[in-house]
Amino acid sequence: MDYELINCGQLDETFIGKSVRAYGWCRRIRDHGGKLFIDLSDRFGETQLVFELQVKDLAEALGKEYVIQVFGNVKRRDEDTVDSSIATGNVEIFVEKFEVINKSLLPPFELIDEKSRSLANEDLRMKFRYLDLRRRQMIKNIEFRDRITKQIRKYFWDNGFMELETPTLVKDTYETGSRTFLVPSRLTKNAYYSLAQSPQLYKQLCMIGGIDKYFQIARCYRDEDQRIDRQPEFTQVDIEVSFKDEKYIKGLIEELIKTLFKQVLHNNEVIDFPVLQYKAAMEKYGSDKPDLRFDSQIFDITKEMKLSNYNVLKRIIDSKGFVKAVAFPADFSMDSNNSKLNKQYMLKLIETAKGFGLKGLTWLYVSHGKIESDPMSISESIGSSVCDSLMQRMNLHDGDIIIIGSDLSENLLLEALGKLRKLIGDKLQNYNKEYAFAWIIDFPLFDKDEVTGKLKPAHNPFTAPTKDTEKYLDSEPEKVIARQYDIVLNGEEIGGGSIRIHDPELQKKSLSVIGMDQNTISNTFGFLIDALSYGAPIHGGIALGLDRFISTLLNSENIREFILFPKNHKQESLLDSAPTKISKKRLLSDYNIKQEDIE
Ligand code: AMO
Repeated sequence: MDYELINCGQLDETFIGKSVRAYGWCRRIRDHGGKLFIDLSDRFGETQLVFELQVKDLAEALGKEYVIQVFGNVKRRDEDTVDSSIATGNVEIFVEKFEVINKSLLPPFELIDEKSRSLANEDLRMKFRYLDLRRRQMIKNIEFRDRITKQIRKYFWDNGFMELETPTLVKDTYETGSRTFLVPSRLTKNAYYSLAQSPQLYKQLCMIGGIDKYFQIARCYRDEDQRIDRQPEFTQVDIEVSFKDEKYIKGLIEELIKTLFKQVLHNNEVIDFPVLQYKAAMEKYGSDKPDLRFDSQIFDITKEMKLSNYNVLKRIIDSKGFVKAVAFPADFSMDSNNSKLNKQYMLKLIETAKGFGLKGLTWLYVSHGKIESDPMSISESIGSSVCDSLMQRMNLHDGDIIIIGSDLSENLLLEALGKLRKLIGDKLQNYNKEYAFAWIIDFPLFDKDEVTGKLKPAHNPFTAPTKDTEKYLDSEPEKVIARQYDIVLNGEEIGGGSIRIHDPELQKKSLSVIGMDQNTISNTFGFLIDALSYGAPIHGGIALGLDRFISTLLNSENIREFILFPKNHKQESLLDSAPTKISKKRLLSDYNIKQEDIE
């Protein structure tokens, strides 16, 4: 007899009466006396199998995650067993025969996603990632990534871009400021490649090579401290173009995002891309990647507080410090615990604020049209006229919580309030919209290194200064503004790019501002300066962090959920135990690393 091969997500009522065969994993097994039910699972879905009579006797030997091939007849399910939550839920296969392709050990965690059950420990999931990938949610995540990537490729090809590959074994240069992973060279003694932190220099060389529209889904490697939104190897959607400006590149990315929303998310919402200057973003939101899903702007209330009798803040003001406040619509009330921000949360927040560098945090709330506090003495010493002017200026309403910080350093204060703003925003989830994009522009070209006090590139050393501020390069480099643009989604930096320096002299000057002497410049970046000297076009580009973009689109902070085989917070692959020790003998014989280098 002919059995049509189907996958586990394919069956529907049109198959009723047909003979089919399917491969899959035995996911859920239920013995109901006369009948044994197994949900056969694969990438496409799940199909209910029914074993009766002699086949049931044989099937009782099947265990969870056994791989089998079944042959049988498709029937309509009894009404009481219809499962409308899955596509195949109206039908089942009555198994006539089956074969075991492979047995399985009992999985160390449950592979069925159920809302009532919390996920298995992440370390365990990473160690057995091949099992974790069988979970329906992981299949969805990986398929989503594939659909996004496909659409990105199509978009750039349709817009005349070439998809090209640049090397990943590259020269160790100062590129993004992160530490690099080194790879020893076997043939050149004591010499190392580094793994590319991004294709930055090579894509610029492509432009000098006359390739005017480049893109790459590029693997990048950075040895940074790990966070939930960082991985030591991650993927960028990397772009570079010649003879174009910021407007073109920003427009290109906005159109890409709109296309992805329509084609992949099937979301026809009108998306807008407000533009914020770096300085304004810091002042209003305390962050260069502000979460604009909610309002809660930071107000400088130094002037108001100067008039108050609240000594904690007045002391800072007298020492030329700053006082700033943010308010949150929190439905707060002292008498009820209904608000997500209750008194215990606010007390804990004070400790969190100290962790962000503040000496303390004052919190107030609005009740019956007035600012109050716990204890009342705080709002009393602030005074009713100052409170009234805050009510007006900050447009406060009943139930609002206001947090007030102060410090001698305005930057420290803004950054700390920015972090607290984001924490409270995440807690309240009181969003005006699901997705809030923004461009951040007009960054300073250089930052001061907190430890050494020396200037360093705020992004990368190849970014061009604006025409208006280039003149400060020698005299007041901190005033120079970069032709840099970062794109932010829901408080995550999902991408960044710039117009590059195409003049070799300007490139040398910019490198010298960050303390490189001529020798270091020519040893490290000689090849770039040479290339720029052979007719470099105006060029610029951008890179989107693909893992981060995808996880933010799906409202998850943890990018590991969207990476096939991620590393943990110690950069270890729990699956295969990388990194591993290499014997001294092998380091010597295969990698030519000398004894004194090892010890
Ligand atoms: P940048 O360093 O800003 O720019 O990186 C671009 C984007 O990549 C993502 N990203 C990361 N994602 C996961 N894990 C990491 N460790 C990680 N580091 C960065 C972020 C970031 O916005 N060459 C320039 C781009 C350019 O100017 O064209 C660059 O690499 O989302």
